[in-house]
Amino acid sequence: MPRLSQRAAALQESAIRKLDLTIARQTDVRFHRLNIGQPDVPTPEPLLDAIAAWRPKVVAYGPASGTMACREAAADYSRRWCPSLRAEDVAITTGGSEALLFAFTAICDPGDEILVPEPYYTNYNGFATVAGASIRPIPTRIEDGFALPDDDALDRYVTPRTRAFLFSNPGNPTGAVYPIEEVRRILAWASRRGLFVIADEVYRRIWYDAPPPSALEVDEHQDVVVVVDSLSKTWSACGLRLGMLMSRNAALMEKVERLGQARLGPQPLAQAVGEVAFSLPEHWYEDVRSTYRGRMDALVKGLSGVDGVRAVRPAGAFYLMLDLPVDDAEAFARFLVTDFRHEGESVAVAPGPGFYADPSSGRSQVRLAAVTAEEQLVRAAELLGRAVEAWRGR
Ligand SMILES: Cc1ncc(COP(=O)(O)O)c(C=O)c1O
Repeated sequence: MPRLSQRAAALQESAIRKLDLTIARQTDVRFHRLNIGQPDVPTPEPLLDAIAAWRPKVVAYGPASGTMACREAAADYSRRWCPSLRAEDVAITTGGSEALLFAFTAICDPGDEILVPEPYYTNYNGFATVAGASIRPIPTRIEDGFALPDDDALDRYVTPRTRAFLFSNPGNPTGAVYPIEEVRRILAWASRRGLFVIADEVYRRIWYDAPPPSALEVDEHQDVVVVVDSLSKTWSACGLRLGMLMSRNAALMEKVERLGQARLGPQPLAQAVGEVAFSLPEHWYEDVRSTYRGRMDALVKGLSGVDGVRAVRPAGAFYLMLDLPVDDAEAFARFLVTDFRHEGESVAVAPGPGFYADPSSGRSQVRLAAVTAEEQLVRAAELLGRAVEAWRGR
């Protein structure tokens, strides 16, 4: 058998996807699927209309960093909070995922490290592995709202191999929102240390208390800033695979263009839809926000009646990290899928350890995604309470 690469061997299997395969095999039960971030909010009509209207003579390649029309529309959208952003500062990518992969590849040499507040979005590990780099976690705690450490504490994580600080704002899975002063502090710190800051802002339009800032809003230190955004969550268009990487560092953007050339252009249909998405009026985002607010309120209220469950109400995104009276969240998540049933229903959750570099962490935590209707979320919270009791009484 020919040998496979060590990088491929190092790729982790997603705990969430693994559970999904088991879910697909259960035929006796209706699951409330709160384990993945796939919203059921309908994709906006104008986007669906754009898909239906797209009828080119030839489905051709396009420019490596995206069509000028789509880059211009994305820049125009982002100028709502960053007036000086130009189309040249935007590269269109195949989802936020590719933007992250491009950022890692452009910034890191094999063996380099990227600092990430933990718990964090699991796929960062995979992108780092493919780029030959690794994630170095900076622990944050549910008890203090996943606050970031101060500069001195951050300094202790920096090694000669550190190249970037990556954070998701709002956070997946934490729902934490870092305000503008905090973003400013991180940019100043990173700039002093000669590091890039990759701000993953794919959930930025979904918030509950105060709007999360974009790292593009800070005028200083823009040469270290890379912002990732995506149509997946805000516009409920996960399957379209349209994302963007934005930076005012021209040298970095040139390398991103080269990476784009190596895979040829991003998908042209997705870009035509993107143009429409970026021109939706602000009230559309208000509607999305109020949908998620209603859901999060329902979920938090439902869980408040469940004995032993600790939940931090998120400030943004549509996830909720829970601390449960269980000592093995992966076994508990499997138990929900394969054993626990109440009136023919159960709940699918994402086990906490998947969001930590060391899977012995987060063993009492699970992540819920508020991606179904309010009544269903209330029911799911009730089922989760019953499941915790059943787990204790095994
Ligand atoms: C924090 C975060 N970043 C990036 C992504 C990637 O999204 P996409 O590739 O669909 O744009 C996700 C998807 O769940 C995410 O949660």
